[in-house]
Amino acid sequence: MFKCRSAREINSTFPEQAPKMHSTFASCVIAAVFVAVALADHHCHEEADACHKLSEPNAEFALTLYKKLDAHTAAGKNIFYSPISISAALSMVSSGARGDTRSQLMSTLGYAALNQTQVDDGYEHFFHVLEHHQTNQQLDVGNIVAVGTGFQPSQQFVADIKRHYVGELLNVDFANPEEAAAQMNKLIASKTHDKIKDMVKDLDPGTVMMLLNYVYFRGQWQHPFEANLTSKEDFHVDESTTVQVDMMKRTGRYDIYGDNQNHTTVVRLPYKGNSSMIIVLPDEGKMKEVEDGFTMERFQHWTQSFFKNNVDLSLPKFSISAEASLKQILQELGVTDAFSVAADFSGLSEDIKLKVSKVSHQAVLSVDETGTEAAGTTTIEFERMSLLESFKLKLNRPFLVFIVDSSTETILFMGKINNPTAL
Ligand SMILES: *[C@@H]1O[C@H](CO)[C@@H](O)[C@H](O)[C@H]1NC(C)=O
Ligand SMILES: *[C@@H]1O[C@H](CO)[C@@H](O)[C@H](O)[C@H]1NC(C)=O
Ligand SMILES: *[C@@H]1O[C@H](CO)[C@@H](O)[C@H](O)[C@H]1NC(C)=O
Ligand SMILES: *[C@@H]1O[C@H](CO)[C@@H](O)[C@H](O)[C@H]1NC(C)=O
Repeated sequence: MFKCRSAREINSTFPEQAPKMHSTFASCVIAAVFVAVALADHHCHEEADACHKLSEPNAEFALTLYKKLDAHTAAGKNIFYSPISISAALSMVSSGARGDTRSQLMSTLGYAALNQTQVDDGYEHFFHVLEHHQTNQQLDVGNIVAVGTGFQPSQQFVADIKRHYVGELLNVDFANPEEAAAQMNKLIASKTHDKIKDMVKDLDPGTVMMLLNYVYFRGQWQHPFEANLTSKEDFHVDESTTVQVDMMKRTGRYDIYGDNQNHTTVVRLPYKGNSSMIIVLPDEGKMKEVEDGFTMERFQHWTQSFFKNNVDLSLPKFSISAEASLKQILQELGVTDAFSVAADFSGLSEDIKLKVSKVSHQAVLSVDETGTEAAGTTTIEFERMSLLESFKLKLNRPFLVFIVDSSTETILFMGKINNPTAL
């Protein structure tokens, strides 16, 4: 996959409220996706095995998610998300899943060729490496298991999450949804340096457990922009919409590649430390074409073709926030059992049957003269399977019937109903 040097960082992308700065931003967005991807890869040298196993599938999943999110996002809205946050959160879910529920998760995440042990070990190395190598940048990634009062997750599951996913345990009273949400929002806010404050809302009182991942990144540009060069300029959202932005400017030597054939210019803005932002700017009117032709191979080709050149760079200063509900997208990608009565989370709880009720993601990004701050969080809510919910079963053809006494395991009556209208 990527060279370790190429970049590392987090990031995310999403449907956004503010319809400002689309075209250039949409390109930043693509960039952000892959910067994220490289994160999972930057320790290749030491933990070659564990590293490579996850980095490629994570990159592919990031791209698949991008395409899905794009299809679900209204034109002109921003997309910003943290692929690593989503992959890590779903891997925790998978570690408590069994049977088809697990295999659907594993194959959607791109881990079909791996077993859960390999995935868990991969994340353990990943989190371990992040704790080191952080001289000039801040990168915090972590996980929380919020356990509802009265619910007892399997000891093995909790131990696995603590060990492989640096998971913290939090006790929450979900029967009191407003207090529970406030408690979790306070924790998420503290983990993301107040970048994400309102992640948990509309908590269902039937929730018994929540898995939560957070990612926080703060990087300073290796070559900061001079604030006194920033000025108001137009940003062309589309052919008919123009907005005013604070455009930052800097002339300097950057890694750049112009791919005329594929209508794109790619530039790398390094942060202090080991990470960078890679921006993919499609030629005017070519966003759709570039998105359609986007593959990991092409991205890799770009990052390998970089050469140093003087660049007159104009980059908007901006802050955006985006959120998305991922349930439908995951279902479209093949994760269906986890959300249904067919869910098998026996690795998480043996006695109480659980299913996933909600998967939410939120991510924020701010870029200014000094650097970048980004945060993402993914929450996965589990609830008891409700008795109201059921498989569709229409008895519109002959069926067998048994009336049994379970205390004595006796069949009291049995029969075959061929025609219910017959006397
Ligand atoms: C997972 O795969 C590895 C490598 O193929 C193997 O050594 C290990 O025994 C497997 N673990 C499980 C639990 O199947
Ligand atoms: C901008 O500020 C820097 C110091 O931060 C100064 O060296 C430079 O001359 C200023 N440039 C302009 C155009 O005012
Ligand atoms: C960058 O990463 C390398 C190897 O992954 C590490 O040795 C080095 O300390 C890191 N540098 C910084 C500034 O974090
Ligand atoms: C355009 O993309 C294709 C396929 O990814 C690649 O093989 C080709 O080299 C690219 N063109 C240029 C000029 O880089």
